[in-house]
This record gives sequence, C-alpha cells and structure tokens, in this order.
Amino acid sequence: MKVLGIAGSPRRGGNTDLLLAEFLKGAVNKGAEVKSISLNSLKMTPCQHCDACFKEGKCRIQDDMQKIYDELEQSDIIVLASPVQFLGPTATLKAMIDRCQCLWARKYILKIPPLNPERKRKVFFISVSGTRIKCMFEPSITIVKAWCHVLNIEYAGDLLIQGIDEKGAILGHPDALQKAYESGQNFVGAGLKPDPTKSG
Ligand SMILES: Cc1cc2nc3c(=O)[nH]c(=O)nc-3n(C[C@H](O)[C@H](O)[C@H](O)COP(=O)(O)O)c2cc1C
Repeated sequence: MKVLGIAGSPRRGGNTDLLLAEFLKGAVNKGAEVKSISLNSLKMTPCQHCDACFKEGKCRIQDDMQKIYDELEQSDIIVLASPVQFLGPTATLKAMIDRCQCLWARKYILKIPPLNPERKRKVFFISVSGTRIKCMFEPSITIVKAWCHVLNIEYAGDLLIQGIDEKGAILGHPDALQKAYESGQNFVGAGLKPDPTKSG
C-alpha cells in the first residue's frame, strides 16, 4: 500500500503540514509505504491551456509536475493537505490540480483512462481555516472532488478543522492530531487485503 502526501501550504511545519505528518505516521503504523511532497518546494508552471495534451494525453511542460504524474500513478492513497486561502485551496495546490488537464484530456478527448485503472486510488483531504465561518471548506471540497472525478479516484474522507490560524495552533487542538493519526491507520487498514491463512 503506497501513500502519497501532498502538502499544499507554503508554510513549512504549519498546521496542515502537522496534520499530514500525523496521517502518514498512522499509515506507517499499519505497514504502508509513505512519501510526502511539498508543492511549495517544486518548480511548477501553471497550465498554459496550449491543448498540446489533446494529442497524447501528456503535458509538454517539462518541470517538477512530471514527477507528480509518476507519483499519482504509483499511489494507492493520496492525501491532499491545504489550508483555506481566500476561500479555496492554496495557489500551489490549485496549480497542481490544473496541471492535471492532460489527465482530463486522456479521459474526455482520447477516451483512455486518466491513470492506470488497475490501481483503485483513494483521496483523503486535510484542511484548516483560520476563521469559523460556516461553509469555508466548500469551495475547496468542490474542487478536490472535481479533480477526483476526472482522475477516477474515490474521494474517501476528509479532516476539516476551523479556528486554527497561528503557525502550530493545531498542536493546541483537543483531538485533531489524534484524528489525523487514526485516519491514516484506518485508511490503510481498510485497504489491506485479509490474510487468507488467518481466515476461519
Ligand atoms: C493568503 C491567505 C489567505 C487566507 N484565507 C483564509 C480564508 O479565506 N478563510 C479562513 O478562514 N482563513 C484563511 N486564512 C488562514 C489560514 O487558513 C490559516 O492560517 C491556516 O491555519 C494556515 O494553515 P497552514 O499553517 O497549514 O498554512 C488565510 C491565510 C492566508 C495566508
């Protein structure tokens, strides 16, 4: 079971980073192989809407996004972590999502699977917002769900925490880190095939 964590916050060691780290620790505890990528450290040009991907379903821009296409292919669980920024995901996470236009082209123009369909992928979404304003996560959830739909990935759960603003404030939350850890454990645990030698 391979788990890919994608950190969308520009603030390293910030609230969503801490929650993502806990999720990954929980996943490791259940035997998963985990990897984490911080989008802010990558060189990624926004989608140029050149439509070059309509020919072969591949993005012609040779930058760090090419690594992410490979990682998406090779992952069973993808954890997206992004704070709310101006009601949506961070610009870097949105840029990554937009660069999946070539996977959209595979599905809707070329009529081929966006990713290898032998792997049944799942997404878990982690987000925090500084305010407690109702519906603050809705734009991000809608965007992430649309991305999952295009890539044929199941949106399988989320952890959404409000009223967390200062760097590290999540450490003072009563149960968010514990919930992130347990989500990592549960996600991996649910995907593990039962051992036939132990059935009975
Ligand atoms: C540019 C920017 C925009 C933000 N927009 C919102 C917002 O629309 N609603 C909100 O509740 N919090 C907003 N926040 C607050 C962040 O969601 C909050 O500080 C969060 O804890 C940051 O998480 P991080 O440490 O993982 O980056 C914004 C913060 C920044 C820097």
